Amino acid sequence: MIIAVDGPAASGKGELTQRLAKHFNYARLDTGKLYRAVGWRVISVGGDPSDETTATRAAKGLTANDLEAPELRSEIVAEAASKVAAIAAVRAVLVEFQRAFAANPPDGKSGAVIDGRDIGTTICPDAPCKIFLTADIEVRAERRVNQLHEQGTVAIYGRVLKDMKERDSRDTTRSVAPLEPAEDALVLDTSKMNADAVFTAALEFIASRTSD
Ligand code: CDP
Repeated sequence: MIIAVDGPAASGKGELTQRLAKHFNYARLDTGKLYRAVGWRVISVGGDPSDETTATRAAKGLTANDLEAPELRSEIVAEAASKVAAIAAVRAVLVEFQRAFAANPPDGKSGAVIDGRDIGTTICPDAPCKIFLTADIEVRAERRVNQLHEQGTVAIYGRVLKDMKERDSRDTTRSVAPLEPAEDALVLDTSKMNADAVFTAALEFIASRTSD
């Protein structure tokens, strides 16, 4: 069983996928972390995340250890992630790992909950359950500011909003695997929904998709 959850920054993917993975006892993969780790590998040594050769080399050299770096949660790394993510060769390197995870979830789990931007459209187009979360950009920027504050990071709303707009635009207009809902996805606007309401709606949808 594969549950694909896509959507823009701070639309609630992380919270929902954690809850779903726990509820069904499935493995969870946050694919944003892969792109963040590639971005961090590049900028931590002063490289240009938009440079194809540099970014592709960083993707090929990715190790499990790179996914644990605390820096990955920062907005600077998010920006670098969206730059490396626009490069087709980088995405090609990361596709295999994601598909292998979906086909054989670790720890003998019987399913996977995977979140990202292109899971329902490109990585797992045959996933039986696809959910696309979205929310007004002002709401998402406010959520991200709160998350950053919880992490102990100083964040200014106006700056976060501006960066998020740029990242949304880069993610939706890139030529390779742009952010968009799959045709058969449940699209949920979470602007006025709390995490419980999103979880309930997702469970209903999954039940409807798996009942026959
Ligand atoms: O946490 P947030 O939603 O802000 O970002 P993320 O999911 O960690 O992803 C960071 C960046 O990686 C995104 O802005 C995308 O450019 C890229 N990404 C992608 O292109 N494809 C994915 N499957 C996941 C992330």
